[in-house]
Amino acid sequence: MAILVTGGAGYIGSHTCVELLNAGHEIVVLDNFINSNPESLNRISEITGCMFKTYSIDLLDKEKVDQVFEENDIEAVIHFAGLKAVGESLSIPLHYYHNNITGTVVLCEVMKRHNVKKLVFSSSATVYGIPKQCPISEEFPLSALNPYGRTKLMIEEILRDLYVSDNAWSIALLRYFNPIGAHKSGLIGEDPNGIPNNLMPYITQVAVGKLKELSVFGNQYPTKDGTGIRDYIHVVDLAVGHLRALDKVSNSTGIDAFNLGTGKGYSVLEMVEAFEKASLKKVHYKIVDERHGDAAVSYADPLKAKQELGWVAEKSIEEMCEDSWKWQMKNPNGYKNRIVDEENLHKVNSGDFFILN
Ligand code: WQD
Repeated sequence: MAILVTGGAGYIGSHTCVELLNAGHEIVVLDNFINSNPESLNRISEITGCMFKTYSIDLLDKEKVDQVFEENDIEAVIHFAGLKAVGESLSIPLHYYHNNITGTVVLCEVMKRHNVKKLVFSSSATVYGIPKQCPISEEFPLSALNPYGRTKLMIEEILRDLYVSDNAWSIALLRYFNPIGAHKSGLIGEDPNGIPNNLMPYITQVAVGKLKELSVFGNQYPTKDGTGIRDYIHVVDLAVGHLRALDKVSNSTGIDAFNLGTGKGYSVLEMVEAFEKASLKKVHYKIVDERHGDAAVSYADPLKAKQELGWVAEKSIEEMCEDSWKWQMKNPNGYKNRIVDEENLHKVNSGDFFILN
């Protein structure tokens, strides 16, 4: 029996694959590599010493998705695959709706056909919109501020309807706060395409000299230093949260949402200071206008995940900064450092999937 990890070559997906393999699970990765690099799969094997199958296909290709379930004994799915750039979603909303929503519907239709009804879905704290207060609990009102956030919200609703139509499903909706950091080996990490949208990869690229200075989006918010406050969570803590959610959906039916955050908020300038301390590198910055749609403050109430998943984020902000810097320092150009060597990829059967050695 294997766990299918869609988007398994991505930032959170790759870290979750490492934890799954280390916990003894068999995995199958499905990825179209639009937002990721196959090199991350080599690195997963390097870290864990484990081999696994990868299908280089798109969730919109229903026939090929069905082939994955025909060829493998899938017991559950952790579904990361999706486009996730807030700004980009504003300029190409239809692409986001089609890719994220239709892709998820196709996945669920194929799962249903093969009687696989255990699903962990990668949602986001963005479904809370601009929270009226913090800490944010799962019962807070939901709203979305951009097409990316709306795809997450709509998929949560689609999955709720799916459960109402068939109570045999078991679904966990994981609402991530702000994932940062990297595996302690420095072999896998966040490798954004182009100029980073998010704070930490921007900071690390300034520190490594790829970008000149950080633009701090506003310092007039009602916070301790005027800059935005977020709940940063180590990506390895987040990955472990997926294994706890997998345990939950494997032993029950139903659908439920869980915040995956630390419950602590840090401002942008506090993050700059923490990173400088961890990396011993100066991060030059300038204050610019607020970014449209940004909340002043957002951090989680993580109690429900503690009580129902037995999960608590453990890593400190210092560790998050140290591990982010180690990844960036070892991989100044991300995975593009080591172009995937085609000889290393054994093409098997129709070439629709390959096993990395
Ligand atoms: C964090 C803080 C910015 C960049 C979004 C999505 C969420 C998830 C994570 C996909 C804010 C400030 C940022 C910069 C800055 N995305 N900032 N200069 O906006 O909380 O969450 O990304 O999964 O769903 O909503 O994260 O890292 O962009 O911003 O000052 O160059 O850093 O204003 O206060 P955000 P972020």
